[in-house]
Amino acid sequence: GLMGYDPAFLNTANCKSAITYIDGDKGILEYRGYPIEQLAEKSSFLEVAYLLINGALPTPKELEQFTHLVTHHTYVHENIKAFMDGFRYDAHPMSMLASTVAALSSFYPDAKSIKDEQSRSIQITRLIAKMPTIAAFSFRHSMGLPYIYPDNDLSYVANFLAMIRRIGTATYKAHPTLEHALDVLFILHADHEQNCSTTSVRTVGSSEVDPYSAVSAGIGALYGPLHGGANEAVLRMLREIGHISKIPEFIKSVKSGEGEKKLMGFGHRVYKSYDPRAKVIKRVADEVFEVTGKNPLLDIALELERIALQDEYFVKRKLYPNVDFYSGLIYEAMGFPVEMFPVLFAIPRTVGWCAQWEEMVKDPEQKIARPRQVFVGSKRRDYIPMDKRT
Ligand code: CMC
Repeated sequence: GLMGYDPAFLNTANCKSAITYIDGDKGILEYRGYPIEQLAEKSSFLEVAYLLINGALPTPKELEQFTHLVTHHTYVHENIKAFMDGFRYDAHPMSMLASTVAALSSFYPDAKSIKDEQSRSIQITRLIAKMPTIAAFSFRHSMGLPYIYPDNDLSYVANFLAMIRRIGTATYKAHPTLEHALDVLFILHADHEQNCSTTSVRTVGSSEVDPYSAVSAGIGALYGPLHGGANEAVLRMLREIGHISKIPEFIKSVKSGEGEKKLMGFGHRVYKSYDPRAKVIKRVADEVFEVTGKNPLLDIALELERIALQDEYFVKRKLYPNVDFYSGLIYEAMGFPVEMFPVLFAIPRTVGWCAQWEEMVKDPEQKIARPRQVFVGSKRRDYIPMDKRT
């Protein structure tokens, strides 16, 4: 029969969704109808998480209950710790995160009951709650430092920062500006409709596997340099450029590379104008740098953006800075090594993955994902015995 050929689904809607709206030409991003700029300014990450998952802003009581639930599921089974100890000393924390989240499915066999609303709700709570713990453990492991258990008296972000930073038994108090900045970054990264990792979660989840296995596939997708690895690549690129004077030469090499070499942190499949998240991030960066001191790579980034936005190559292709262009600079100023950047993306995106996974599970039109292909291989031919082959 007639079949559409649409590699990488550039032109195919894979689902109906009521969660996130993007207008790529106008640079609009909305969660459940609320503009990202308003959420970033007025809301908090757990409130946004509630919104994305439940479809409406919580009442004060609902937010309190949700916060209580998430806060009291932050601990992981001691054997998860032992599992993580098995990784090589130099294991990439993102690889540890993907494997450990997949391993969670063996700790919660009840997660297989995906048609049961209550079971779904508890798995989603566990995923959102345990992600910072596993992320922090993966960081501590890679640094050769002892794991720090969650502190349920702290906020979601402050607890994460404490598990990352605490030395010995001294309490770690995150700087309020940095705590707020990370909370805003988490809001900006919470969902982004049918991106590569979310599509992976939906695809794997469509087989009706448990959500830990599905989310682990999403983490795998997010590990790639074209997706969640982009902010790490931006920093490596800025370091490689090294000095403002080297920018024109670098831009020239990108343009002559025939798509081989890219300006990392630029361009987006959907946004053909300025990424609205990048605008918010630029403001957050200013606040963070006031506390941490300016990241010396910022000047290179600003000048690179200025030159690229005037260059015909980038203008013609509608290539603008995306969310990752400045986020890495902030993470680095906050003391995170580049290996942690995709992990810092995965923590908040877990909310989007869970919201999208549950929406898919509840959708009566959803079937197992099973695309077709355009076959371009050999026509039928007969087997040739080994001794007849030359
Ligand atoms: N630098 C230089 N040229 C570029 C870039 C770039 N960053 N991005 C796209 N182009 C060129 C590309 O070579 C092509 O040129 P031509 O028409 O001459 O062949 C044209 O622009 C269209 O690009 P495309 O590859 O068809 O666009 P796409 O929608 O397939 O790719 C993208 C989107 C984000 C993968 C790509 O822009 C890219 O690789 N950017 C750099 C990596 C990056 O910053 N990724 C983060 C994305 S945002 C956060 C996230 O979702 O994880």
